[in-house]
Parts: sequence; C-alpha cells; structure tokens
Amino acid sequence: MERDISEVLFTEEMIRERVTRLGMQLGRDYDGRTPLLLGVLKGCFVFMADLMRHIDLYCEVRFITASSYGSGTVSSGGVRLGDISQLDIEGRDVVVVEDIVDSGLTLKRLRDCLLEMRPASLRICALLDKKSRREIEVEIDYIGFECRDVFCVGYGLDCAERYRNLPYIGALRPEVYI
Ligand code: IMP
Ligand code: MG
Repeated sequence: MERDISEVLFTEEMIRERVTRLGMQLGRDYDGRTPLLLGVLKGCFVFMADLMRHIDLYCEVRFITASSYGSGTVSSGGVRLGDISQLDIEGRDVVVVEDIVDSGLTLKRLRDCLLEMRPASLRICALLDKKSRREIEVEIDYIGFECRDVFCVGYGLDCAERYRNLPYIGALRPEVYI
C-alpha cells in the first residue's frame, strides 16, 4: 500500500494537531448549543471520529451518503445523494462534516437540499480544501488544510475504496489509477 504513495502531504501529527484545534474551535463557537454533526460518508468517518472527541459540548452525530465519483478519480459531474428526507434537522444547528471539497458540486447540492429543511443554522467543516479545482462557489466555514491538486488518499479518503486505513494523507501515484 505504502509504495503507491508518492508523497506524504499531511502527517499523523499534523492532522492530530489541526483536528484538535478545529474541534476546540467548534466547541467555542457552539457554546450553549447542541450542534448536530452531519457526516458525509464514507470519506468523513475517520475525521468525524477524531473531530467530535475534541468538541467539549453535548453534540449529536448523523451520517448521509453522497458521491460524485465512480471508482475513478475524475468527477463524473453528477452528484448522488442518499435519502435525506428522514433527517429531521428543522431548527437544529447543523455542521456538515466533509473529507474534501474539490469541484464543490457535492456540497452545493447538499447545502441547497439541507437549507430547504429549515435548520436554525448550517455550517460546513471540511478537512481538505482543493481550492484550485472549484467549479462552483461554496462557502466553507471550517477548513483543516488547503491542498494542492493531487489525488489524496488516507485518513478516510479512498481511491476505489482502498487506502482509507492509511493513518496519514498522501498523494497517490498517478500510475496507480490511470
Ligand atoms: P466534489 O463534488 O467535486 O467537491 O467532490 C467531493 C467528493 O469527491 C469528496 O467528498 C470526496 O469523496 C471525493 N474526492 C475529491 N477529491 C478527492 C481526492 O483527492 N481523494 C479522494 N476523494 C476525493
Ligand atoms: Mg469519496
């Protein structure tokens, strides 16, 4: 697995430090409230598990599925959202937790759908932001790291369902996925 990685972008230690700070910041920003953390599967699951353990508040967690990629590394353009009709977020302070924002299409679509369900507030927390790839503007309230335009895997991020178990985030060698 390791030999498919060309470069370590964010080490375990960098991630631990940044995620701790993000969690503490959320704890301060939502002081006195009970935020509902809404994770976008599957990529968010490692990030979510670490993040929420640094939020020193009552908080709830739920997950939804969304995908814009098939098994390759290039966006298919279409966004598939799982069933969000049962979410019951009306009046809640919702924080969407995402692994990475690339074109922005997934988040834009999700955001619009969630806003129709009338949450009290809606913010977005993404571990990685590939800003240079944005096709549609979407505001991200909390960002772990900005990242270059390379295909990232590890710490929950996959390529065709593999590499999610790498403890750091690395760039995948193009020859592995081309
Ligand atoms: P977007 O709709 O183009 O912003 O795509 C966002 C989704 O694509 C993320 O939630 C990821 O699941 C996936 N994605 C985008 N870039 C990468 C990457 O570098 N590695 C792994 N998954 C990625
Ligand atoms: Mg994904």
